[in-house]
Amino acid sequence: MKLENPKNLIVVIFGASGDLASRKLLPAIYSLRIQNMLPDKYAIIGTGRSMLSNAEFRNKMKESILSFSEIQNHEQSHLEDFIQCLTYHTMDVSSPASYEKLKGIMVETGKKVGADGNYIFYMATPPFMFESISVNLAKAGLADQSAGFRRFIIEKPFGYDLESSRTLNTNLHEVISEDQIFRIDHYLGKETVQNLLVMRFANGIFEPLWNRNYIHRVEITSAESIGVGSRGGYYDSAGALRDMLQNHLLQLTGMTAMEPPASMEPESIRNEIHKVLQSLQPIRETDVPKQVIRGQYTGSVIRGECINGYRFEKGVAQDSRTETFVAVKFFINNWRWGGVPFYIRTGKRMPAQVTEIVIYFKRTPHALFPRENENMTANQLIIRIQPDEGILLKFDMKEPGSGFNLKNVNMDFHYKDLTDIRIPSAYERLLFDVMQGDSTLFSRDDTIETAWKFIEPVQRAWVNNPSIKVYGYPAGTWGPERSGNIIDGCGLTWRYPCRNLIEDGTYCEL
Ligand code: BG6
Repeated sequence: MKLENPKNLIVVIFGASGDLASRKLLPAIYSLRIQNMLPDKYAIIGTGRSMLSNAEFRNKMKESILSFSEIQNHEQSHLEDFIQCLTYHTMDVSSPASYEKLKGIMVETGKKVGADGNYIFYMATPPFMFESISVNLAKAGLADQSAGFRRFIIEKPFGYDLESSRTLNTNLHEVISEDQIFRIDHYLGKETVQNLLVMRFANGIFEPLWNRNYIHRVEITSAESIGVGSRGGYYDSAGALRDMLQNHLLQLTGMTAMEPPASMEPESIRNEIHKVLQSLQPIRETDVPKQVIRGQYTGSVIRGECINGYRFEKGVAQDSRTETFVAVKFFINNWRWGGVPFYIRTGKRMPAQVTEIVIYFKRTPHALFPRENENMTANQLIIRIQPDEGILLKFDMKEPGSGFNLKNVNMDFHYKDLTDIRIPSAYERLLFDVMQGDSTLFSRDDTIETAWKFIEPVQRAWVNNPSIKVYGYPAGTWGPERSGNIIDGCGLTWRYPCRNLIEDGTYCEL
């Protein structure tokens, strides 16, 4: 299906001198430009507190694009043309008066480049600013859609808990409508996540098996090999539960478990994701120690390199109990999934950067062929979200020769074998969708609140009951050993896509 180019527009980025703009946004917009996916006429206005001239901003963005763009064969002239579409405006976002000035600049820029009154506002700022920026934009008349569309992109975290997310939604809705808000969950922009829809609903063979009758359990892992880097200050007040699980992992759960949507219309798909989250069996506060394991990485030596423990990272409190790892077991109370355990885990400083969904199918009803571990299932479908995007089916075959020795073999599909075309980055895809006004891959207000509601008892239990342990795991391992105990079934474990990076380490209680 060939998509039309978006309408002429102006993109305003708040927080344009920050990391997100340089590493992700500008390289993504530039990639769209290279692929001729931007409108004929457009302008990008960066704003921020830093005092930068247009020339300084352009140079900074040019360097960022050269460093972070996924498209490497830049034609110098394309890059130069693109850079000329950028301007920078220093402003204090807390001052209502500065929005009148911004409005003037936008109108003037619009006239100069011939872009109509379509505006996209990207809040690449700390979250506490989303609300005041939106209110101020609205007060300056910049949210009114009579002369063109006005879309607001916000980045997670959307609140810190159920109550704050409700307040944020209510306050935003006072000045802008829900269909103007695009909440980015960049996991939904990942190609393989969207492919889940196609895999499940364009093929006849999976859907009949996709339920409690044939599936034993589902496991979702999102592991990162990096630590918190320079984001220690933010991370220490967030932790893995808020940073990854409440949003990315629950959205992946929604896509994995949803019913077939009635159509590919945004609301149709978003309704189904929401229904899954509404069906999550609430975790009782008293069950948190059994169903949720939290951990924090400790120092270790990986391939001869000393890795700091989390508490020694910049911006992190020395006695921090913030989790850098979390694993949760839960159920989905509906007809499709009743009784099937879902296990999700995420962590920093694990042995690999990998995100995958593993569907474990039930064993055969009768074991004709002896297996080493009778509890193990022969059949697993592994949906590799990143890296090396693809789908792997594991099943048993006979080893050649006498007797019936079984061998678990792989049927392996790699996205890269499908096409030479580069897989677009999540930001590229999502920014293009905002330009098109397609909200399918963005989180809706009610879904965000339902996700917070699900994790609220966990947050409460951790606050109310400090005796719930934080397990230390050495950097370079698959998290606390204790996380294995939440998997039901004798001898069953998480899938380990690769080995621990260190042979030995101290798993301790912090
Ligand atoms: C972000 C989190 O949303 O996702 C980060 O704030 C995390 O802490 C990142 O590193 C992971 O994204 P990806 O695409 O690298 O898996």
